[in-house]
Amino acid sequence: MRAKPKVDKAEYARRRRALMALMEPNSIAILPASEIQIRNNGVEHRYRQDSDFHYLIGFDEPDSVFVLIPGREYGEAILFCREREHDHERWHGTVTGPERAAELYGVDDAFPIDDIDDILPGLIEGRFRLYYAMGTHLKFDTRILSWVNSIGMDDREGTEPPGELIQLGQYLHELRLHKSAKEIDILRHAAQISAAAHIRVMETLAPGMMEYEVEAELEYQFSKRGARHPAYPSIVGGGSNACTLHYIDNDKVLNAGDLVLIDAGGEYEYYASDVTRTLPVSGKFSDEQAALYEVVLAAQRAAIEQVVPGNHWNQPHEAAVTELTTGLKGLGLLEGNVEELLEVGAYNQFYMHRTGHWLGLDVHDVGEYKVGGEWRVFEKGMVTTVEPGLYIPEHAENVPEAYRGIGIRIEDNVAVTRDGHDVLTDDIPKTIAEVEQTMSAI
Ligand code: GLY
Ligand code: MN
Ligand code: MN
Repeated sequence: MRAKPKVDKAEYARRRRALMALMEPNSIAILPASEIQIRNNGVEHRYRQDSDFHYLIGFDEPDSVFVLIPGREYGEAILFCREREHDHERWHGTVTGPERAAELYGVDDAFPIDDIDDILPGLIEGRFRLYYAMGTHLKFDTRILSWVNSIGMDDREGTEPPGELIQLGQYLHELRLHKSAKEIDILRHAAQISAAAHIRVMETLAPGMMEYEVEAELEYQFSKRGARHPAYPSIVGGGSNACTLHYIDNDKVLNAGDLVLIDAGGEYEYYASDVTRTLPVSGKFSDEQAALYEVVLAAQRAAIEQVVPGNHWNQPHEAAVTELTTGLKGLGLLEGNVEELLEVGAYNQFYMHRTGHWLGLDVHDVGEYKVGGEWRVFEKGMVTTVEPGLYIPEHAENVPEAYRGIGIRIEDNVAVTRDGHDVLTDDIPKTIAEVEQTMSAI
């Protein structure tokens, strides 16, 4: 694997400049860090910084607030963060502290978080507009309102709260949607880690294993390669468990003759990968499994072909459902005219989700899918998943028995390039021949 890519200080500074260039004159943006989440009594979940906050500064400590004030004479980028305390650091490890934050994170000024009530209202005062993700951080919303309300409470001249509250996301998320070359590099690295994990599962899968053994292998491979956390809870669904779209129990035995749907991706340097492969537990697809698999694969290929600059967001989905409908008709699972079947969405009984979503710092990444009421057009630097599937319910009476209880999804991560696309997860076996070959290799 190549050198490990990482966003540097200069890129964080570029992102801040890009956001500030979109903000109106005399305005302020305020971003709180994620809160620590409690798992159970006295035990915290591993901390994960808020993606918007991380995007602008790469500072990953809780109890922090980041403030941007474009054009402010005494500094535009201001961080409030925890102070260093010997006792705390002895238990929890090193804290950056305001003294070091300016140099390490390229901000103009940094203050102790405990001083925020004294300092922040003064920074808000007199600004016409406040950019903030209202409704996302409920506890922090109340603090924002109290700071804003505290301004203008006395009779001093010129103390006015901002007249406009603007949702920060509509600007920041447009920036996040367009990935830089470095971000694509990191997403590719995350994808390659997930590729190695999926390939390892293909090499080791055997009937009688528990679904959680596969989960353990995947997450071991992610972690060992530096993706210290899955980007989302891994799905390992054997047999008809694959038909439960968000199956994460992963606690059943994997039986010979069944397929297993594996949807798992590592998060690397905060960037997600999101990969699904569907494998025959004993290494060979049955005729019916293979027939359905070929339909999903054709749909996935057709959808990927549509991910090119100038096409719109829904074209991959349209291509996928057309292929799925044609394939289902070919197998006798749907009857009638393809156009009419498409019109009434007959595929819905076997395919009930969309064909993709943006991918980035969040696995379901930010960015609008429609602009001005129209599907968004693909542009270089956007990254999407392409993930059609077929899920034949166990009790689907109108379906031949051999097809019942089969769930198949194939999911890749695709970056839009200047004149086409780049499948970041291309290293993972996908055709029936490739999968069977990889599974028989050891
Ligand atoms: N793994 C979540 C998804 O595919 O959207
Ligand atoms: Mn997925
Ligand atoms: Mn996905």
